[in-house]
Amino acid sequence: MTTETALTASDLRLLAEAGTLAPSLHNSQPWRFRPTPDLLGLEVLADLGRTVPAADPDGRALHISIGAALFNLRVAAAHLGRAAEVRLLPSGEDGQPRAVLDLSAPARTPSPFGPDLYPVVPKRHSSRHAFTNRDVPEALVGELIVAAREEGVTLTMLEEHDVRRVLALTAEAEARIAADVTREAETRRWLRVEPSYDGIPLAALGSHDRDARVPMRGFTGHPPHHATPAERFEALPQLATLVTHFDHQADWLRTGQAMERVWLLATAHGLRASVLHQAVEIPDTRWRLRDTAEGPGHVQLVLRLGYGPPGTAAPRRPVEDVLLDPVEAAG
Ligand SMILES: Cc1cc2nc3c(=O)[nH]c(=O)nc-3n(C[C@H](O)[C@H](O)[C@H](O)COP(=O)(O)O)c2cc1C
Repeated sequence: MTTETALTASDLRLLAEAGTLAPSLHNSQPWRFRPTPDLLGLEVLADLGRTVPAADPDGRALHISIGAALFNLRVAAAHLGRAAEVRLLPSGEDGQPRAVLDLSAPARTPSPFGPDLYPVVPKRHSSRHAFTNRDVPEALVGELIVAAREEGVTLTMLEEHDVRRVLALTAEAEARIAADVTREAETRRWLRVEPSYDGIPLAALGSHDRDARVPMRGFTGHPPHHATPAERFEALPQLATLVTHFDHQADWLRTGQAMERVWLLATAHGLRASVLHQAVEIPDTRWRLRDTAEGPGHVQLVLRLGYGPPGTAAPRRPVEDVLLDPVEAAG
């Protein structure tokens, strides 16, 4: 059944606003949205003027970021009472668009993702603050695992031993990235404040307690919330990995959707999150992130979860920059 009701200008704006609130590597926001010629759908394009080539040469993080925007579009479509039928990579790898949403049918259920996630979209921020030592309840971990699985991605909450291993790999990758002048210059271009980790340069940390602190990158455009490398993070961060069976563009798009679905669901339950991406950015540390006991799998993302301050809203591109004119869709 189709509604055959064309998307209005205000529907398109609402969709694009939700899409652009998604998280992205270095807040690069590498997406654009283009209505289909019949105005019953939306294409999601990679904005290739906003790639981050030194940190992300294969476009893996680009596709994860686009996948996150795609999930927000699905949430906004549900809010508009429309079902969102998604086709990934309809023109193959590297082709445009990266995904197409058919929005012609009415929603089958008012809230397809459990709680209504639409009001949560503007409330989700990266929180790079210290979290409390309160554990994420098992039942909630179970919900997050199911949410990721429904997007085709495996979420694993790490045990203490693996948390320490992942933090050590993150610190190692961070030091290597810091020593790479090309990457440092690239990060500095995207970062609007000095590239430290919410004010904590890793080099300033004693190696004995390095694993009790979490290297962070701040992209809010505001100065770090403290100036000295003194803040202690939670004794043992709660980390989760997102893993896929294969490592193709479609898997990266699925990872982005799973990440955003998990992050919004977590936010709806009062949890905060941030991404630790450094170890995934370097091939050999990424390889060593794998949990060999779990069998083959490609680690796409490390999420830090916990209870604490909400984080600050990072700036976004105006909707006019990301929403292409419907007229262009015909061309
Ligand atoms: C693929 C990817 C990698 C990211 N890597 C990091 C990271 O290593 N450190 C960090 O603090 N934030 C990281 N982020 C979070 C972004 O910096 C953040 O989403 C962006 O600045 C927008 O802010 P917001 O999440 O508060 O909306 C990453 C996000 C994505 C999607």
